[in-house]
Amino acid sequence: PSYEHILTETPKPGVGLITLNRPKALNALSSPLFKELNDALSKYDNDKDIGAIIITGSEKAFAAGADIKEMAPLSFAAAYSDNFIAPWSHLANTIRKPVIAAVSGYALGGGCELALMCDILYCTANATFGQPEIKLGTIPGAGGSQRLTRAVGKSKAMELILTGKNFSGKEAGEWGVAAQVIDGGKEELLATALKTAETIAGYGRVSVIAGKEVVNKSQELSLREGVEYERRLFHSLFGSKDQKIGMTAFAEKKKPDWSNE
Ligand code: HXC
Repeated sequence: PSYEHILTETPKPGVGLITLNRPKALNALSSPLFKELNDALSKYDNDKDIGAIIITGSEKAFAAGADIKEMAPLSFAAAYSDNFIAPWSHLANTIRKPVIAAVSGYALGGGCELALMCDILYCTANATFGQPEIKLGTIPGAGGSQRLTRAVGKSKAMELILTGKNFSGKEAGEWGVAAQVIDGGKEELLATALKTAETIAGYGRVSVIAGKEVVNKSQELSLREGVEYERRLFHSLFGSKDQKIGMTAFAEKKKPDWSNE
């Protein structure tokens, strides 16, 4: 499909790459852009040949936030009745394959929230994160207050959200927001993300989806419920072909040839 605000490609077998591409607005996340992003995510999620998805932006901006010019005139009634921002939950609520955020440059407001929604976050050391909504007379609206707090703890999240001050990619790594901080620019960043995506796409689809599902449950459930949930899903994987394929291959010292069943 041809999109106006994003680019899509499969740079490696099994890897879907989505590049946010509204350079004139530093990839501000307008509603039309998000509609395209959700469409592309669903297509990759439903594509049997894809095993992992990457979302990235430009060297200068992952995304500088929700589109302030679109939001400025909104009324409460319009925002509420149209459920403004609700489509942003598509990624977190329905996409089952792993999504990697590769963040270079600005990831502010909704851009930071989009990155936090992804399953794995990689960034450059001098990426710029922040929740500056307070400076615009509002607050994070796409999960930032919840996901940032889970990632960095209450006191730091409170400080960031109430002062609107930015934090660097280096800090994102130190605080556990980012899984890896890449020394270098967008090219090195993307190479790292592609390598991880290729690794994940090389495993059986069923166990990868199950792995993502159980880690996400840890964010919702008590420890005991989460451990029980994990055990049930672990038990159920004995019903998959890939569990037999994987364990047999180990015993036979062979490379597993996954069936995705
Ligand atoms: C709409 C934006 C934008 C945004 C940048 N632009 N961010 N347009 N929404 N979030 C536009 C600018 O208006 C400008 O357009 C062009 O992109 C280039 O931006 P400049 O400001 O000229 O670039 P620069 O001087 O390099 O500064 C970069 C910047 C700054 C520091 C990132 O653009 C900035 O502060 N942007 C806003 C960041 C922000 O507050 N984000 C949170 C938004 S609220 P023109 O036409 O002038 O060239 C939010 C709410 C989330 O995200 C809650 C629900 C999801």
